[in-house]
Amino acid sequence: MKRNIALIGFMGSGKSSAGKRMARRLGYEFVEIDRLIEQQAGKSVAQIFAELGEPGFRDLEEEIINKVSVSARGAVIACGGGVVQRPVNIDRLRNSSHIVYLETDTASLQDRLSNSRNRPLLEHPDRDRIIADLHTARRPLYEAAADITVKTGGRPFAAVINEIIEKLGIDESQHQ
Ligand code: S3P
Repeated sequence: MKRNIALIGFMGSGKSSAGKRMARRLGYEFVEIDRLIEQQAGKSVAQIFAELGEPGFRDLEEEIINKVSVSARGAVIACGGGVVQRPVNIDRLRNSSHIVYLETDTASLQDRLSNSRNRPLLEHPDRDRIIADLHTARRPLYEAAADITVKTGGRPFAAVINEIIEKLGIDESQHQ
């Protein structure tokens, strides 16, 4: 039974971009938790935050993580950056997935996220400070949740993906 690969890390750490490419390379399905939340709610992440607040978004996120943890096999799962805020999400993901932390330094995140839209937590006049504070608070949670950690930020996706495949010991000849 193929295990899934769940990507965690801060907003802008490359979970979706690296995840899409890695899924294609391994012949895995690509699953993006935020898109499933949007489909289920029939609204964008920004609309969900505006109408239900962050707790409402986190409830939907928990529900989708639970569903995907049960049903997905052989998928690369790109999680939202806040998935670690509820420990139950990590417990559930761990049952069916390797958990891979894409680690990026704060300055690269600030750079990558400077023009980002549809990320309600960053809608603040001092975006760089919000990113720095949230990153400091989240980092220990990502580290504690991770089975393996791989650095991103300025590295080509191919190098990131090679390192994930190698560290997880995935035999690519079994996955084409
Ligand atoms: C969030 C990250 C976002 C999205 C939501 C909340 C967070 O996903 O789930 O805006 O709390 O870090 P990305 O990490 O894909 O941007």
